Amino acid sequence: MTSVLIAGGASGIGAATAARLRATGADVHVADINPAGAAEVVRAQAHHPGSGTAGYCDLSTADGPGQAVAEALDAHGRLDAVVFCAGLLVETELPGFTVAEWDRTMALNLRAPFLMAQAAAPALAASPHGRVVLTGSTAAFRGGGGSFAYAASKGGLVALTRSLAVAMGPDGTCVTCVCPGWIDTPFNDPYWQRVGGREGALDALRSRIPLGEQGRPEDVADVIAFLVSPGSRYLTGQAVVVDGGLLAS
Ligand SMILES: NC(=O)c1ccc[n+]([C@@H]2O[C@H](COP(=O)([O-])OP(=O)(O)OC[C@H]3O[C@@H](n4cnc5c(N)ncnc54)[C@H](O)[C@@H]3O)[C@@H](O)[C@H]2O)c1
Repeated sequence: MTSVLIAGGASGIGAATAARLRATGADVHVADINPAGAAEVVRAQAHHPGSGTAGYCDLSTADGPGQAVAEALDAHGRLDAVVFCAGLLVETELPGFTVAEWDRTMALNLRAPFLMAQAAAPALAASPHGRVVLTGSTAAFRGGGGSFAYAASKGGLVALTRSLAVAMGPDGTCVTCVCPGWIDTPFNDPYWQRVGGREGALDALRSRIPLGEQGRPEDVADVIAFLVSPGSRYLTGQAVVVDGGLLAS
């Protein structure tokens, strides 16, 4: 039985990943700043084999990622994979972007995945197929006028993925960074607000995506499920883009 920690699994891509992995029989611990949402994700999958647990965690604190790892180990006795899905998107025009917004973004989007991988490393090394899957973004590869700290944090996450892969490879742990394009979750609400509303911007967005629509959280969860699986044993240190062709256009 595979045991997976999903950090930021109460909503969107993390919640879809929890559902996808529970359906394969995995044990899953969902850690999130929204404990009611995390508990609901676990409850909704209770009919599957394996077990699900949930807990409160503020991953943006220095201790939060380590606490999430410790709780997952307490709950399930071992850890084969950690999936980091939490993220913060601040959308502010250049003159008004604050140091506090920059620091909050970096603490969650970049420091926390590092601390989680660091804390989980010994447990993952003991697994026959240890995996770290981080959630980047196409923002790592293209600019967005307003998402300065977000784009920088996701670019940093792709670089971090490579260094973690080098450090953890000798223990047999694979490290990858799934990079979604536009996925239909509440996450992009700050962007819709900055550009004057979702409805007006959606047609222009669709016209830039070769597959013609936003992705669903399940589209990313399916790729994460592969990255977590033993079948991805020779894939490490890479960003895997899931964007309906956006970056190709
Ligand atoms: N939705 C998209 O279009 C998109 C595109 C590219 C990348 N991503 C990335 O995918 C990841 C997941 O995004 P999503 O669309 O599923 O977002 P979402 O808002 O649906 O889910 C994010 C989850 O993270 C949790 N969270 C936020 N701050 C936290 C904290 N401090 N501690 C613990 N949990 C916290 C939230 O409660 C929520 O459950 C993010 O890293 C995001 O940057 C999303």
